[in-house]
Amino acid sequence: MSKVTDESGIMQAIIQERYGSAEVLEFRAVKKPTPQPDEVLIKVHAAGVDRGTWHLMEGKPYLLRIFGYGLRRPKVTIPGHDVAGIVEAVGTEVTKFNVGDVVFGTCRGSFAEYAVSKAPLLALMPAKLTFDQAAALPTSGVTALKALRDAGKLVSGQSVLIIGASGGVGSLAVQIATAAGAQVTGVCSTRGLELVRSLGAESVIDYTQQNIGEAAGYDLILDIAGGRSLSELRRALKSSGTLVIVGTESGGNLTGGIGRSLRAALLSPWLSQRLTGLIAFNTEPALQAISELVENGAIVPSVERSYPLAEASEAVRHLAEGRTLGKVVVSVVRGVNHGMSRTVEVIPERGIL
Ligand SMILES: NC(=O)c1ccc[n+]([C@@H]2O[C@H](COP(=O)([O-])OP(=O)(O)OC[C@H]3O[C@@H](n4cnc5c(N)ncnc54)[C@H](OP(=O)(O)O)[C@@H]3O)[C@@H](O)[C@H]2O)c1
Repeated sequence: MSKVTDESGIMQAIIQERYGSAEVLEFRAVKKPTPQPDEVLIKVHAAGVDRGTWHLMEGKPYLLRIFGYGLRRPKVTIPGHDVAGIVEAVGTEVTKFNVGDVVFGTCRGSFAEYAVSKAPLLALMPAKLTFDQAAALPTSGVTALKALRDAGKLVSGQSVLIIGASGGVGSLAVQIATAAGAQVTGVCSTRGLELVRSLGAESVIDYTQQNIGEAAGYDLILDIAGGRSLSELRRALKSSGTLVIVGTESGGNLTGGIGRSLRAALLSPWLSQRLTGLIAFNTEPALQAISELVENGAIVPSVERSYPLAEASEAVRHLAEGRTLGKVVVSVVRGVNHGMSRTVEVIPERGIL
């Protein structure tokens, strides 16, 4: 298949032409993308599956559609952001990478054999990682780092409560906080306890058995899952502590729970505690910092399962169930035809961001 791909300018990809559940993801043949002068063409080896990809598949919260992702249907027809692969071609303005470089980072449309990205959104892939491990890192790793370091202003010796510790962001946050010298308590359900302990948490709270407030007095709380009320979270925080609201999947279809972050921002100036939200974008320095943490042995991405490209919809379905242990990834195995022939309809690339 790679021969067909290379010679014909056609590649295999997951296509999404409408919003909806995982059924909207189709395995099809499309035109291979061409890099713009400031872009890099990546031969994708693995793609990470993150909550953002799932939100863009569903078109929810609806606020996303108003923010330019497409009112009635997605503007970007190939899902997936996180990528690990090999540089296939570079635009005329790109000086940072050469053909053959092994890279990881974020791009548009990573659920495909090839994807394009801007050079600052990529970094050289740490040599000790597999492609699957590297693809699990960019979005979740950058979010965990920014939540702890920038929003949380974590310093060594502080006590940190990480709620949602067994998921994509949480499993990396536990490792980054531990490496920074924090005393980490992870919150997850029973099935995640062993994983969270193995990642370095000093103690774990099984939220199906125990309330987080029963072990109060943290310097920093990362609220990554569960959508607990501000009052419940504040009760578990020191009077001088910081709450960073990273996300929740229980915030409703319209705004996705942004109201809680807004309330926190409005309330914070009147409190001794600091309450803040987070919108983490991938940046070159953040990706570089993640690379260094990998090279130092501080973080190892925890990949629960890898799915072949043709089964990407299963990977997203698994994530949507909300019970992921660490990360799931999509692996692009070349030379596999998956029953696809040269006569398949080739749909044109449309409306990429
Ligand atoms: N602010 C940003 O810039 C940013 C960036 C990336 C992601 N996010 C958001 O962050 C959230 C988490 O993302 P993710 O990739 O880590 O998702 P994920 O991989 O699905 O992990 C979420 C984890 O939370 C656990 N969980 C569910 N309910 C819980 C509860 N009541 N209390 C404690 N833990 C609970 C789940 O496992 P168990 O139930 O088995 O414990 C799951 O492992 C999402 O809402 C995502 O949209 C925000």
